[in-house]
Amino acid sequence: MRHLLLSTFLIILCAQTVPTNGCIDGERRALISLKRHIFDPANRLSSWKGRNCCKWQGVECHNITGRVVKLNLRSPNNFDSALFGEISPSLLQLRDLMYLDLSSNDFHTSLPSFLGSLKNLQYLNLSHTYLTGAIPQHLGNLSNLEYLDLGYMNPYTVYADSLNWLMHLKSLKYLDMSLVDINDGSNWLDAVNKLPSLEQLLLCGSGITIRSNSLPHINFTSLKVLDLSFNNALNTLPLWLWNLTKLTHLDLSYCSFKGSIPHELSNLRSLNTVLLEDNNFTDVVPVGVWTLPVLTKLDLSNNLFEGVISEIELSYMKKLKELDLSANNLTVRVPKEWTPTFNLLVIKLGSCRLSREFPSWIKGFTELTYLDLSNNEISDKVPSWFWNTFRNLQNLDLSNNQIQGRLPVSLEFMALSYLNLSFNQFEGPLAPLPESLGTLDLANNFFSGSIQIPNPLLNIHTLRLSNNSIVGTIPVSICKSQNLFLLDLANNNISGEVPSCLGRSQIIRILDLGSNNLSGHIPDSLCDTELTRVIRMSNNHFDGTFPSFLKQCRTLVILDLKQNNFKGRLPDWIGESLNNVTILNLSNNMFSGPIPTQLGQLQYLQVLDLSHNNLSGSIPSLANFSNLSPELYYEKEVMSYEMSGMYMYYMVLVTKSEELQFSKTSLLVKSIDLSANNFVGEIPEFFGNLFKLQNLNLSGNHFIGKIPNNLGNMKSLESLDLSINDLFGKIPQALSKLTFLSYLNMSYNNFSGKIPTGSQLQTLNNPTVYIGNPYLCGPPLPIACFSNSTYTHHSDNENEGGLLSVEWLWLYIGLLLGFVIGFWAVCGSLLLNRSWRYVYFGMTDNLLGRFNITVALFLAKLFRKK
Ligand SMILES: *[C@@H]1O[C@H](CO)[C@@H](O)[C@H](O)[C@H]1NC(C)=O
Ligand SMILES: *[C@@H]1O[C@H](CO)[C@@H](O)[C@H](O)[C@H]1NC(C)=O
Ligand SMILES: *[C@@H]1O[C@H](CO)[C@@H](O)[C@H](O)[C@H]1NC(C)=O
Ligand SMILES: *[C@@H]1O[C@H](CO)[C@@H](O)[C@H](O)[C@H]1NC(C)=O
Ligand SMILES: *[C@@H]1O[C@H](CO)[C@@H](O)[C@H](O)[C@H]1NC(C)=O
Ligand SMILES: *[C@@H]1O[C@H](CO)[C@@H](O)[C@H](O)[C@H]1NC(C)=O
Ligand SMILES: *[C@@H]1O[C@H](CO)[C@@H](O)[C@H](O)[C@H]1NC(C)=O
Ligand SMILES: *[C@@H]1O[C@H](CO)[C@@H](O)[C@H](O)[C@H]1NC(C)=O
Ligand SMILES: *[C@@H]1O[C@H](CO)[C@@H](O)[C@H](O)[C@H]1NC(C)=O
Ligand SMILES: *[C@@H]1O[C@H](CO)[C@@H](O)[C@H](O)[C@H]1NC(C)=O
Ligand SMILES: *[C@@H]1O[C@H](CO)[C@@H](O)[C@H](O)[C@H]1NC(C)=O
Repeated sequence: MRHLLLSTFLIILCAQTVPTNGCIDGERRALISLKRHIFDPANRLSSWKGRNCCKWQGVECHNITGRVVKLNLRSPNNFDSALFGEISPSLLQLRDLMYLDLSSNDFHTSLPSFLGSLKNLQYLNLSHTYLTGAIPQHLGNLSNLEYLDLGYMNPYTVYADSLNWLMHLKSLKYLDMSLVDINDGSNWLDAVNKLPSLEQLLLCGSGITIRSNSLPHINFTSLKVLDLSFNNALNTLPLWLWNLTKLTHLDLSYCSFKGSIPHELSNLRSLNTVLLEDNNFTDVVPVGVWTLPVLTKLDLSNNLFEGVISEIELSYMKKLKELDLSANNLTVRVPKEWTPTFNLLVIKLGSCRLSREFPSWIKGFTELTYLDLSNNEISDKVPSWFWNTFRNLQNLDLSNNQIQGRLPVSLEFMALSYLNLSFNQFEGPLAPLPESLGTLDLANNFFSGSIQIPNPLLNIHTLRLSNNSIVGTIPVSICKSQNLFLLDLANNNISGEVPSCLGRSQIIRILDLGSNNLSGHIPDSLCDTELTRVIRMSNNHFDGTFPSFLKQCRTLVILDLKQNNFKGRLPDWIGESLNNVTILNLSNNMFSGPIPTQLGQLQYLQVLDLSHNNLSGSIPSLANFSNLSPELYYEKEVMSYEMSGMYMYYMVLVTKSEELQFSKTSLLVKSIDLSANNFVGEIPEFFGNLFKLQNLNLSGNHFIGKIPNNLGNMKSLESLDLSINDLFGKIPQALSKLTFLSYLNMSYNNFSGKIPTGSQLQTLNNPTVYIGNPYLCGPPLPIACFSNSTYTHHSDNENEGGLLSVEWLWLYIGLLLGFVIGFWAVCGSLLLNRSWRYVYFGMTDNLLGRFNITVALFLAKLFRKK
């Protein structure tokens, strides 16, 4: 009784020592000092004034001692409100602090080790803070810590050489070290095994190795959430996993696991989320998976699972909301009349060998928001109930089937943000679209009629209608789509002028209007935002002089104006303004005058096609051509759109007759085509130094003189066309050094003497190579070099269709990585698209570089967390 009285007295006494304003002065000063080291553009700390610091935003004091116990400076989910600067050690004055949340700010300093002295901390959140450097071992002093969130700080610039400090955190319930580069020598599993209270462990993309071994004793059996995605598994699933019977959430995606899923999985009866995406599980899906009693989310996509999934498997599931079986070796066969007993929100059955009939059994999933039936063999019509039943769909991917029929009269009532119907056989007019739409891909169908945009599409960022039969004009309302970054209307019958507002305050990166009936001028505003990478206007009727707005297009990578009615001289500023251009195609126009010497400054140029114009004069030095290794350029700067399959730049190049295969990794061909112009003078010697050039076409000009000997140094040359010029003299023997040469045309010149032989030239034995040179002799021509010798006929059964052959080269184009970083908010929904994500994570490190992968991973996770 006395005891109680005493303590009550003490409490009252303590309460009285609290200043009436409810804040300890020293702590107030510490907070002010903290604020002084922080730059706060959004003025979030504006309430941090006056004496009572306990009332300041984000500050909470103990109601008896008046000491600060909680400091929450987490920035709301909005980049504009982030705090910048550094974390001042004055924080240490808050010695009773139990809760510290600095997440989602932008500190960009190294991780402060003094945090390890805030001994009373129970909650520490530094996630998304851009802090860098080593994780301080001093954190091991925080023995009261229950929540430690160090995830997604500054990808791969934060590292931990050892996890020994972890074992002191006996109360730890939550540990997130995603994207912290954990040195595996530290043996993460041993450290984790010393944390008996741990309930959530998140080590996404932290470079750890997951071994399949068992453990002598498993102490972390409290674990409920385990995320080891984007790490390296050495083999099969680890045996200790099956002892974690409280597990509810298991994410082992992108780990290269092999083998099968053992039956023990069915021991983990609390599992509600199982994510095994992108591994190599080589077997049937065990029944145990389907019978997990509370399973709500199952992702088995991109594995090597085999067998047939039927309504029997699906019927086991009672709680399932999300199912992804895409891209396995599975066959999904469910009778059309089957009615599900559960209600899915997300179903992804891409590449699941669905039969030709539309899978009408999905009708029962009336709450679907995400439906992916891409890459199957559906050759039916979309049933009439579909659009109404699934009006809440946000993502719909039916691409790559043979689906027929028309769209409904309007799609405006739908909630769609991603619609991909590309590579099907849809026909009829386009339907008015919902305002929510971010991505629309209707490419490669038989759509006709004009583009319908009754309401501005304010959210759209990707709009592809290429390869249809669309007519009419480009509606002016497209200029209101300020988030548009990919506009691909190529290969249609669109006519009229391009709206002059296109590009104004828009962020268009890729504009492809090729192969239509467009005319007039190209809008001046296209490069207003200085973000444009690709402008393709080929095969239209545009006219006028070389567009002067291009002077602002400093970021342009591809400019293709082929086959229009442009005329006049090429401006000098091409060589300076289009500094980063890699493909410049101005062929089949009426450009005249000389090539400006400045063109020779373009160091990234890989394809220069000026053929079929009226250009004249001699050729300026192009010695810089492709000087800077484009591979390097792409690796560093370019995020391959190619990989996502969203945009493919293709062009017709006049080159050797054989089919050239450009695989996705060979990047771009290197070619110069100056054919069919009025160039004069000798063939310049600089060509001999273009070691990377694969295709050189100078035919149909007035070049005179001899072939320079050093052309034999162009060691990558595969195709050389010098036909129809006024060249003379002997064909240099040095050309026999061109070991990759597989197409050669010397016809219709005045060459004389014996045709050189040896090496590669021996294989180019078609006489038409040399035809029209009356003074040439020797094989393969049927003309002997010496009048006394007998003529030997070289049989010729090759069929040469013409002097020049045309082939399709598929070239792929990428975008600058900076774009993803800067505009991830815009294209965030792309991350939903698994092919997009696959791109990143499926790629080898050296293709895009580790950093890019981690950034993408970072974005992917960010998105997933939403
Ligand atoms: C003081 O705060 C604790 C929680 O921190 C609360 O449970 C208690 O009711 C509060 N006491 C008073 C007097 O406000
Ligand atoms: C840490 O903060 C981030 C937001 O900045 C939040 O998403 C995350 O859940 C927090 N971690 C914990 C353990 O509360
Ligand atoms: C805190 O941790 C560091 C590093 O582990 C250690 O050197 C130091 O003695 C610890 N301090 C206290 C007060 O425990
Ligand atoms: C697991 O816990 C037991 C009992 O607390 C302890 O003796 C053992 O060392 C722990 N095992 C590991 C690997 O830390
Ligand atoms: C794992 O669980 C099994 C029973 O499911 C048990 O026999 C085994 O001893 C456990 N292993 C460890 C290391 O605790
Ligand atoms: C899966 O296995 C194949 C060969 O069996 C291999 O080429 C591929 O890289 C593996 N994929 C992963 C994600 O481990
Ligand atoms: C797909 O499964 C069949 C057996 O069902 C097997 O023969 C084939 O090799 C598998 N294909 C791949 C790519 O694993
Ligand atoms: C356009 O579609 C036709 C018919 O589907 C196809 O043959 C052609 O290859 C497609 N062209 C392009 C560039 O995709
Ligand atoms: C051109 O490329 C260089 C090197 O890749 C890059 O640093 C620069 O930012 C690019 N310039 C523009 C305007 O895109
Ligand atoms: C639409 O689907 C096709 C085929 O599956 C794919 O190549 C393309 O990238 C998708 N388009 C978009 C914009 O995601
Ligand atoms: C005539 O041809 C033979 C070989 O066929 C050759 O050896 C000889 O030198 C030639 N004579 C003249 C004058 O060119």
